Amino acid sequence: MSGILEHDTVELNDKDNSLRIIDQTLLPGRVEIVDLKTPEEIWDAIYRLRVRGAPAIGVAAAIGMYVISVGIAAGSVRTPVMDRRKGDLDGFYEEFRKQKDYLNSARPTAVNLSWALDRMDEVCVRAIAEAGEAGSGNAGLVLDALREEALRIRDADVSTCRDIGEHALTLIHPGDGVLTHCNAGQLATIKYGTATACMYLAHEKGYDLRIYCDETRPLLQGARLTSYELASAGMDVTLLCDNMAASLMKSGAINAVFVGADRIAANGDAANKIGTLGVATLARAFGIPFYVCAPLSTIDAATPDGDHIVIERRPDYEVTEMWYRERMAPEDVKVYNPAFDVTDHELITAIITERGVHRAPYDFRR
Ligand code: MRU
Repeated sequence: MSGILEHDTVELNDKDNSLRIIDQTLLPGRVEIVDLKTPEEIWDAIYRLRVRGAPAIGVAAAIGMYVISVGIAAGSVRTPVMDRRKGDLDGFYEEFRKQKDYLNSARPTAVNLSWALDRMDEVCVRAIAEAGEAGSGNAGLVLDALREEALRIRDADVSTCRDIGEHALTLIHPGDGVLTHCNAGQLATIKYGTATACMYLAHEKGYDLRIYCDETRPLLQGARLTSYELASAGMDVTLLCDNMAASLMKSGAINAVFVGADRIAANGDAANKIGTLGVATLARAFGIPFYVCAPLSTIDAATPDGDHIVIERRPDYEVTEMWYRERMAPEDVKVYNPAFDVTDHELITAIITERGVHRAPYDFRR
């Protein structure tokens, strides 16, 4: 199987300052690499899940913000209200903030989006102040600083995921059966994934894991992405429909569940792909440990619990027709299509970050 493993999920195309992604809406049928330059293209790629998964969205937003900033400095990105009479860097920052808010509106639940944009904002403010002190109104120094920060966020994702994997590896044994939901894999990050990092590391060590992945209705991230990337890496993967998890667990085939997260509240409640709550509830019923793997950047200390997490609602057509040859529901049927659900911290055995294996009551600083 040839595939995605030889490409980066998200990168900066230095040749023409564009955001380069694998278009995940076309997988597994076609591996197409696309370069994005305008704010609209980048926003749309995040909204339509051409690039997706909380950490990858964060990296795409950071590189995207750099790409957009190059356009702002060159005058090609400009909202009509931008006042060009202001000092160069004041005008630049005003536009930067507008574009940052615009990108941030693409998807509400994955906290890595605002986390990465805030980091870019802080660097921008600092670099503008430094340029001011140096008596320079030139955006060049600011762009350099933004580029460096975007690449730092991207590079850190690789080591963070590897560390998550090392910690999670302590929770599995050779020959185990593990279940995952959605795609918290390489395609949702830069390399390794979060929930899948321990699977890649176990594979390297010859653990012979049996990996099961839920297809993940309605957008089929498990079928289209997770089973594809893990099979491409030579792992033993079995795909199941979401409603088959209960019978699989009852059969004794599953020793542990590993999933990712889009936002983890301070008390450990974790938002992840719709259906995760069902898997966690089943795992509890069958006495199977349920682990959430995520970088510290996914922990939102400002959100006290899951009730305060905004859940993205997606369009009806994703349920009624998107992946079917023909529409599979009456034209006027009402559709319930939340993109995520929240798993109560009491259903979570442990949360694994780059810092280690955390158990309730959660204090992610330790
Ligand atoms: O809607 P998606 O495909 O972006 O949802 C992705 C998930 O829910 C992942 O499990 C989560 O972002 C963690 S990715 C490491």
